[in-house]
Amino acid sequence: MIIKSISLTNFRNHANYFLDCNKDTTLILGENGCGKTSVLEAIYILTQGKSFRATDPDIIKRDTDFYRIELEYDNGEKITASYDRTKKTFKILDKKTTRLPLKNKYPVILFQPSDLNLISHSPSTRRKYFDQVFSILSPEYATAVNKYEKAITQRNKLLKQEFIDSTTIFPWNVLLAKNGIILKNLREKFLNDINLVFTSTYHSIADNQDEINLSFMSEVSNLTENQYLEILEKNFTKDHLLGHTTFGSHRDVIDFIFNHKPANGSASRGETRSIILALKFIEANIIADNLLKKPIILLDDVFSELDNTRRSSLIDNFKNHQVIITSVEKFAKD
Ligand SMILES: Nc1ncnc2c1ncn2[C@@H]1O[C@H](COP(=O)(O)OP(=O)(O)OP(=O)(O)O)[C@@H](O)[C@H]1O
Ligand SMILES: [Mg+2]
Repeated sequence: MIIKSISLTNFRNHANYFLDCNKDTTLILGENGCGKTSVLEAIYILTQGKSFRATDPDIIKRDTDFYRIELEYDNGEKITASYDRTKKTFKILDKKTTRLPLKNKYPVILFQPSDLNLISHSPSTRRKYFDQVFSILSPEYATAVNKYEKAITQRNKLLKQEFIDSTTIFPWNVLLAKNGIILKNLREKFLNDINLVFTSTYHSIADNQDEINLSFMSEVSNLTENQYLEILEKNFTKDHLLGHTTFGSHRDVIDFIFNHKPANGSASRGETRSIILALKFIEANIIADNLLKKPIILLDDVFSELDNTRRSSLIDNFKNHQVIITSVEKFAKD
């Protein structure tokens, strides 16, 4: 399935915008600030249910009181999202919902220039990145990550109160342990799936002997749900003193390992690009295999960061997918 068209009303700087993208590759060209990333953002909302960079109050065009975006697939299916500064509504046929229903989501692979910082930034950046990818891959993961995040926010809020007892905290401990174990298990599984093909995919871009894989460290690794829960309960006094949750899956660390060393500090800028490109190709394949749907590829301004060989490699590897590219400059397709 491919996206046939998308229209935007009062979305970021766009008062009215229509894009016909009923073909394999669509190029959105324009100057800085003309609203290219916003178009990809609208596509992301209509396929994933939420933006990759902001919340609705930031997105709605300044000085307007609603936004409306609509996407049509080539099979005629239409999805509309609107926001009126109080609530967000998705509309599919005549049915209205506050969240995009799972069956109406469609997988996408988003490639942004900031992805090239994935290796050098903090562990939380990588956790957030893989949370997004794994959420597209698995509804179970998406649900667990949402529940875990809500529970950690609530637990930390309570821990900041001066007078609080452990029984008030308990329901949040239960949610954290239950969903934390789900996250740990799925993170291990998906990272393992990536590692099986990471080095060989990397070699298809950079023809050499280098090895690349992802490492995973979790303090909940060998625990059962009950043991996890016991630790949270035992930590109550310490956590209350510090005002936050000091143990759990929100502290998992995922690292890129390049030739048996952390890639941050050992991989060059060019090698980093190849590593991230390889990761995107693997994501596309794993998503296609698992969901039996070919993900739509959204490439935001990545060509300015890539040399010609890697630009060609990108186009080649995604040639069986619908690709929507933004760029400030025209580029030669060689
Ligand atoms: N809520 C809003 N209302 C009106 N304008 C906005 C809003 N949010 C952002 N903008 C503006 O919309 C414009 C489009 O932003 P966008 O990120 O889509 O641009 P872009 O074409 O991707 O630019 P670049 O080439 O620099 O990446 C920017 O000028 C931004 O300042
Ligand atoms: Mg942009």
